[in-house]
Amino acid sequence: MLTVDNLNQYYGGSYILRNLAFEAPAGKVTALLGRNGVGKTTLLKCLMGLVPAATGGIAFEGHDLTRAAPHERVRAGIGYVPQGREIFPRLTVSENLEMGLATRPRGAELPPRIFEMFPVLKQMLRRRGGDLSGGQQQQLAIGRALAIGPRLLILDEPTEGIQPSIIKDIERAIRALAESGEMAILLVEQYYDFARSLADHYLVMERGEIVMRGLGSDMDKDGVRETLSV
Ligand SMILES: Nc1ncnc2c1ncn2[C@@H]1O[C@H](COP(=O)(O)OP(=O)(O)O)[C@@H](O)[C@H]1O
Ligand SMILES: [Mg+2]
Repeated sequence: MLTVDNLNQYYGGSYILRNLAFEAPAGKVTALLGRNGVGKTTLLKCLMGLVPAATGGIAFEGHDLTRAAPHERVRAGIGYVPQGREIFPRLTVSENLEMGLATRPRGAELPPRIFEMFPVLKQMLRRRGGDLSGGQQQQLAIGRALAIGPRLLILDEPTEGIQPSIIKDIERAIRALAESGEMAILLVEQYYDFARSLADHYLVMERGEIVMRGLGSDMDKDGVRETLSV
């Protein structure tokens, strides 16, 4: 379980994250929705230690990670799939996946479920990451995050710029990971139907604040879709 407590963050003089407080429980998908520029990616960067939190707390499985370095958070079991994927284009698929093993004990192997979920990665192990389609790169980025054996998986807009057939594969994979009960999933999305189909709980952000929250099954009734339209 991830616990975020009164988190605040600023870029220069702008107040970007305002008193954020929420939890992401194990075995559940917590979907965070919000339009462009509301601070979703900044929040995830704070969770990963890529941007320091100004005030507030971040704890995972009872350990305070507020001041921990990014690699310590990965070692604590947090897998991160950044917006725009950020795979290594000149490294092979295999090498990209092995990057995810860097924090594991020597001799650790790639979890077989990466290839069960995304068989295309197995076929393309020797191809360069940069030669894959956008959707394949997204699968690779998820595979790399799974290679660390995460107990919290954080995904930043995994459907952005991806063709519908691969979106379905990614949806199935996220559902299976949640149902395994082995990890908490924090899913940032702007694609309402995707988030709605996966969310156990939802959060809506506007201008750095969480302005709505509830059960995934109440998203339609609560009017969450309308918060995303311009
Ligand atoms: N490195 C940065 N320096 C200054 N401002 C930034 C930086 N990154 C993002 N911002 C600003 O912070 C706000 C939140 O951005 P971001 O977290 O990327 O939002 P989202 O992911 O919800 O689209 C935006 O106003 C954006 O322009
Ligand atoms: Mg973003």
